[in-house]
Amino acid sequence: TPLADFASTIVQWQQEHGRHHLPWQGTRDPYRIWLSEIMLQQTQVATVIGYYERFLQRFPDIAALAAASQDEVMPYWAGLGYYARARNLHRCAQTLVAQWNGRFPEQSADIATLPGIGPSTAAAIAAFAHGERSPIMDGNVKRVFTRYFGIHGITSERATEKALWEQAHAALACAPASLDMIAYTQGLMDLGSQRCTRGRPACAACPLQAGCYARRNACQHELPTPKKK
Ligand code: ADE
Ligand code: SF4
Repeated sequence: TPLADFASTIVQWQQEHGRHHLPWQGTRDPYRIWLSEIMLQQTQVATVIGYYERFLQRFPDIAALAAASQDEVMPYWAGLGYYARARNLHRCAQTLVAQWNGRFPEQSADIATLPGIGPSTAAAIAAFAHGERSPIMDGNVKRVFTRYFGIHGITSERATEKALWEQAHAALACAPASLDMIAYTQGLMDLGSQRCTRGRPACAACPLQAGCYARRNACQHELPTPKKK
């Protein structure tokens, strides 16, 4: 069945064809992973890299960020946009110091209670830092899932969102116990940004092509279902 091999196929592809040299890969420090995930939420990788390195040089850990004032933090965000992200980042560091002994909790369920961190970002942090077996579901991953599994409906609607998360849990539930969660999580992101792209997906170079609903039905451009105008 396509589902049984879904996750392993992505892991194998990630190891051979995915990205391996982004500055936030190869660390298991939740602080660095968290910072990268927040910056990457609404900003392209190429733009994030410089900001990420400057930010870490000035604020190398949770304690340094929590000890700073918001006015000291904002210049390191200037130009990235979506400034609520920076305000939440700062608030989150202070919450970690005040309530979590200055460390990130390990479980995604706890991480998701922190300011500015939703369930998908929490799962990404727990997967990259600790190998936790929890699914992510960001914009890129929604594109892969709606197309591969043929999930119709506007992705911001509750029923569609529910179907997506259920499918993401199902894909993990039937994957081998030995699944490399770091490669799987990164692989989903890499596939969504490097193969299953919005405009012109590279299906002929996609490891999921044999089982993909959208490719079989030639409806890649109809998924994810566009919002009505
Ligand atoms: N977008 C969100 N998280 C990412 C990551 N870890 N690597 C590349 N792009 C991303
Ligand atoms: Fe996306 Fe094409 Fe791969 Fe299907 S075959 S998951 S549409 S890139």
